[in-house]
Amino acid sequence: MAGERKRVLSGMRPSGKLHLGHLHGVLDNWKSLQEEYDCFFFVADWHALTTNYQTSGTIRPNIREMVLDWLAVGIDPSKATIFVQSDIKEHAELHLLLSMITPVSWLERNPTYKEQQQQLKEKDLSTYGFLGYPVLQAADIIIYKAHKVPVGIDQLPHVELTREITRRFNYLYGEVFPVPDALLTEVPKLPGLDGRKMSKSYGNSIFLSDSADEVRKKISTMITDVERPRKSDPGDPEERCVAFNLHRLYVPSERRKEIVEECKAASLGCVKCKKELAEAVIAHLEPVWRRREEFSRDPGMVDKILGHGAERARGFAANTMKEVREALWNQNAG
Ligand code: TRP
Repeated sequence: MAGERKRVLSGMRPSGKLHLGHLHGVLDNWKSLQEEYDCFFFVADWHALTTNYQTSGTIRPNIREMVLDWLAVGIDPSKATIFVQSDIKEHAELHLLLSMITPVSWLERNPTYKEQQQQLKEKDLSTYGFLGYPVLQAADIIIYKAHKVPVGIDQLPHVELTREITRRFNYLYGEVFPVPDALLTEVPKLPGLDGRKMSKSYGNSIFLSDSADEVRKKISTMITDVERPRKSDPGDPEERCVAFNLHRLYVPSERRKEIVEECKAASLGCVKCKKELAEAVIAHLEPVWRRREEFSRDPGMVDKILGHGAERARGFAANTMKEVREALWNQNAG
């Protein structure tokens, strides 16, 4: 029964088009979770505003692109609840209430707070909202009484803070919320075209929405084994080849073994090898493109899905907020 399953909640900031790193790092994981748990997956547009408040107009179009990518890879609105954070005003109310009980010192020692301020020097992030980023995240999570929060390692401090804030709320006002656990997502090594981590800001990404020709072109520029400048040099793909990390994901293991042998024997050249790789990646992405195309053909489709998701999420969040107000305003009563 749906009502008896444990709840999973996770969110992504709307950064626009997603790439293969997101697919293998996050979305494949969400896809298997939706089979087993009552999943809430949402677009964290208010969180995007904490760093992009000066370019707020760019956020909306990114939501649509990102949700299309979710749907295209198989995040299924009949299995998971998919919605946009700012559609559920209850998150904001809970955020406000949690902000009352969260010591500023907990937020100031949050490692991502300092790190991001340093990294994004061009932006003024000395705002109240940015400091409170993890408080909003805590509200996102506990308003659905989530048991599990799948996140990458960079988000662990935020989930830890959520747990501390939750315990403090429960201690002050009564046991309203389960204390959620992080579900650490193992991210397979997926370097970008240049060997650095695949990231939109490095310009080294293969996007889910790239065309077959773009995939071919991008893969042809990929770094291979730098110690094998000529085809006649024997290579060591498992140790040194950047492109081979994609082989591990897309080329069946039997063929992969042959490729290793041929590369080591200097009989297979990188150009040919990458052509074969590109076709394997394309074969994997074809169903994704087909579904993306289906979902984008009907212009009202994404809105409809997000509308249904918001309805379900709102019902849940509104119930929680009733309990929260009850517990908070009647503290120690009776
Ligand atoms: N901070 C998360 C990120 O940048 C996004 C996010 C917002 C989130 N609220 C959340 C993730 C709640 C998990 C749970 O990736």
